[in-house]
Amino acid sequence: MTLIIREEQFGDEAAIFKITEDAFRGKPYAGGDEQILVDRLRDQNALVLSLVAVDDEKQVDAPPAEKTVVGHIAFSIAINTDGSAPWYAFGPVSVTPERQAEGIGAQLINQGLTTIQSWGALGCILTGDPKYYSRFGFAVSPDFSPANEPAEYFQLKLLSTTTPTGTFFFHPAFYE
Ligand SMILES: CC(C)(COP(=O)(O)OP(=O)(O)OC[C@H]1O[C@@H](n2cnc3c(N)ncnc32)[C@H](O)[C@@H]1OP(=O)(O)O)[C@@H](O)C(=O)NCCC(=O)NCCS
Repeated sequence: MTLIIREEQFGDEAAIFKITEDAFRGKPYAGGDEQILVDRLRDQNALVLSLVAVDDEKQVDAPPAEKTVVGHIAFSIAINTDGSAPWYAFGPVSVTPERQAEGIGAQLINQGLTTIQSWGALGCILTGDPKYYSRFGFAVSPDFSPANEPAEYFQLKLLSTTTPTGTFFFHPAFYE
């Protein structure tokens, strides 16, 4: 089955919620509310890019989204205290447990980064395992970390020649 990466459409919300919940369930680093965070970002118009990985719908007879959406990534705006803009953050990123380690997460991340770069992004931040995200060009950047994030997991990838001088904030929806 061909995998398609496309923007979230009306009707995908429940599938995205379930994939995120399933992907993070039982993970020692999970907050347990990652699926609710995606809904909060959407409700607050902060989900500036929401990509889903979908098994080719044309090949599935009248599929409910729950069966065909196999991955999701959320991008939101991040703020730097130096006033430079625009910066983006990504996360949560989730792949349904049965389909992990097939490269779906990498496709979602790469397509998302390409899209925000085409929008003029100065760079992108995230909190996550450096072992995974270093392959996409992210570097642990404690000097730029928000005070309320674990600095050893805070990472930045520059997408421009601008180096920030301040620290970052994720969207307030991350902390509700
Ligand atoms: C993280 C995640 C989105 C990656 O998607 P994926 O499609 O499974 O990943 P890919 O196939 O692109 O890459 C697989 C590689 O990622 C590694 N990997 C997957 N999750 C990882 C994690 N949380 N930390 C470190 N490495 C991870 C795998 O070991 C594998 O490594 P290898 O290429 O050296 O063998 C997916 O595994 C997932 O949903 N995990 C649970 C939710 C989660 O942890 N989200 C991110 C929180 S920061």
